[in-house]
Amino acid sequence: MKYYPIFAIAAGTLLIGCSDSKTESNAIATAEPEAADHQPAISHPLPGDPEAGKEVYLRACSACHQPDGSGLNGMLAANFVSDKTRLAKPNEVLLNSIRNGVVAENKIMPPHKDILSDSEIKNALSYIRKTFGSSE
Ligand code: HEC
Repeated sequence: MKYYPIFAIAAGTLLIGCSDSKTESNAIATAEPEAADHQPAISHPLPGDPEAGKEVYLRACSACHQPDGSGLNGMLAANFVSDKTRLAKPNEVLLNSIRNGVVAENKIMPPHKDILSDSEIKNALSYIRKTFGSSE
């Protein structure tokens, strides 16, 4: 008898946050070639000897970048094959990255300047450019 079901019925205005949460998850891979197509293939000089760089690449780089240059589809390391922006950078920028390392969002390239000589680094970049890039 003295039980009054006093429910606060004021919850009726809470209509936020309930929409299906999958709407925003279109992956990064939408075709959006905005910046990439104005300079198709800039030719960069090889900073060293690509033949000698092959051995360096296979020894010191291919665990991450993979023998095919794909970096396991970019998951482990920079993908030289399908990400053309990589090798579009000038030699000095890339050499600097190899010497001092790169910290990316969820992966890292350690510095190589203490474990490789500078000519080994230049040779490795030459191998990469010649094999996966568009310059000869
Ligand atoms: C431990 C894994 C690992 C090793 C070993 C490694 N890399 Fe990398 N490399 C990476 C990662 C990670 C990145 C950055 C990826 C990103 O930015 O998304 C990278 C980026 C690069 C880039 C692009 C740098 C830029 O400025 O865009 C070059 C060139 C490169 N590596 C060359 C090499 C060479 C040459 C070697 C061997 C001497 C080497 N890497 C060894 C993981 C590695």
